[in-house]
Amino acid sequence: MIKPDAIGRRLCGEIVRRYEVKGLKLVGLKLQILRRDLAERQYAEHAGKPFYEDLVAFITSGPTLQMVWEGENAVEVVRKLNGATSCREADVGTIRGDLGLNTQNNLVHASDSKATAAREIALYFDKEDLVEYAMPDGQWLADTGW
Ligand code: CMP
Repeated sequence: MIKPDAIGRRLCGEIVRRYEVKGLKLVGLKLQILRRDLAERQYAEHAGKPFYEDLVAFITSGPTLQMVWEGENAVEVVRKLNGATSCREADVGTIRGDLGLNTQNNLVHASDSKATAAREIALYFDKEDLVEYAMPDGQWLADTGW
């Protein structure tokens, strides 16, 4: 998910570019301002934490871009591209390390496991919203285990 701060800073293209040029395949895309109930379901695991109310207020404060990216080890790859939660601590070369300064306003969110991805995708997309297609460069990007 691209968060409201990234959209407000006109960073969508830059962020999408990073996932795309890495070799991931975009299969779902949706721009929306999250309703509070959806934001609460997204961040249910953080309910009760000191930053929770600010987080829900922030994430519902403007448009978010929900994306589904497919690829070899996609969960791990996206988390590496995003960098550490705190933009201050995130490595240079990552989205958060290069483009952000804050911990809450950290530009992007990514699922931390396949199970979380399945849960989060279901929050935003119906099955028919996701597009199945082959990329011409798929054979070059396949992980053959070598
Ligand atoms: P995200 O990867 O979307 O997962 C939970 C979000 O809560 C996180 O990114 C930040 O936006 C926010 N967050 C996590 N830890 C803190 C914190 N210590 N202070 C403020 N916001 C936080």
